Amino acid sequence: MTQRIRKAVFPVAGLGTRFLPATKTVPKEMMPIIDRPLIQYAVDEAIEAGCDTLIFVTNRYKHAVADYFDKAYELEHKLERSGKKAQLDLVRYVLPEGVRAVFVTQAEALGLGHAVLCAKPVVGDEPFAVLLPDDLIWNRDNGALKQMADAAEASKASVIAVEDVPREKTGSYGIVATDAFAHREARIRAIVEKPDPAVAPSNLAVVGRYILNPGIFRLLETLPPGAGGEIQLTDAIAALLAEDAVLAYRFEGKRFDCGTHIGLIEAIVEFALTHDNLGEAARTIMQKALDR
Ligand code: UTP
Repeated sequence: MTQRIRKAVFPVAGLGTRFLPATKTVPKEMMPIIDRPLIQYAVDEAIEAGCDTLIFVTNRYKHAVADYFDKAYELEHKLERSGKKAQLDLVRYVLPEGVRAVFVTQAEALGLGHAVLCAKPVVGDEPFAVLLPDDLIWNRDNGALKQMADAAEASKASVIAVEDVPREKTGSYGIVATDAFAHREARIRAIVEKPDPAVAPSNLAVVGRYILNPGIFRLLETLPPGAGGEIQLTDAIAALLAEDAVLAYRFEGKRFDCGTHIGLIEAIVEFALTHDNLGEAARTIMQKALDR
């Protein structure tokens, strides 16, 4: 790999069963943290890292994601006529100029690895990013993907975000074994999907940010279904280790696992408390609730 990443893949074709019944009609990625959907945070992070082509892997039920990034003529016209400039800018600039959105369909939810493979025709033969929007990672002015893109550019390796998790939680993550860390990076030697804590090679978990060499597509194409009967990205990365350097990257920033109820609550509480206009009022409400 020799170049800066330009393309970011957002796999958003999962079923979101943990948030039923809301996800019957609202895609998980459209759940708001105050007034911005999860997908917006991930998109902003990708743009900050230098991406100008955003590839959304969706399914036939997820019109809301495409609608969100589409132009809303009638709404914009009304806001313009009533002089609501601030709101107009919010609606108009969900994507800045020069950034394009491309939509690719995953006909069947066959797994994260399969969803990434669906983006191959748009990604082509260059390194690319994968962001899972339900992992909200917050680090003002130097997002996790930007940190990783810098590391990938310098090392020419694939780079995967990792975070320490309690050992009893290894069964919920891809877990890596690495060489010793130099600053925030270490070469990955093994990766296992959702190992039992008793056999997990470490408690270093893969979280939802990846920068991958395009060679991953060839490996995904021939991969049999893995854990849960799904085509697992982790299994393809395990195969990639044999032919390419793959780095684990301990990013700077706070991750909220918004794919779980408690993670979503944590993110909402944190963003409410630190909100420029709402922070004080939110703190008062929360204090009152705690004092009851
Ligand atoms: P998850 O397993 O966390 O998401 O997949 P899910 O299946 O939507 O949610 P639950 O577990 O049923 O609540 C991780 C990411 O991979 C995407 C999901 O949209 C999510 O961003 N994904 C997963 C796909 O795009 N396609 C798939 O076939 C599977």
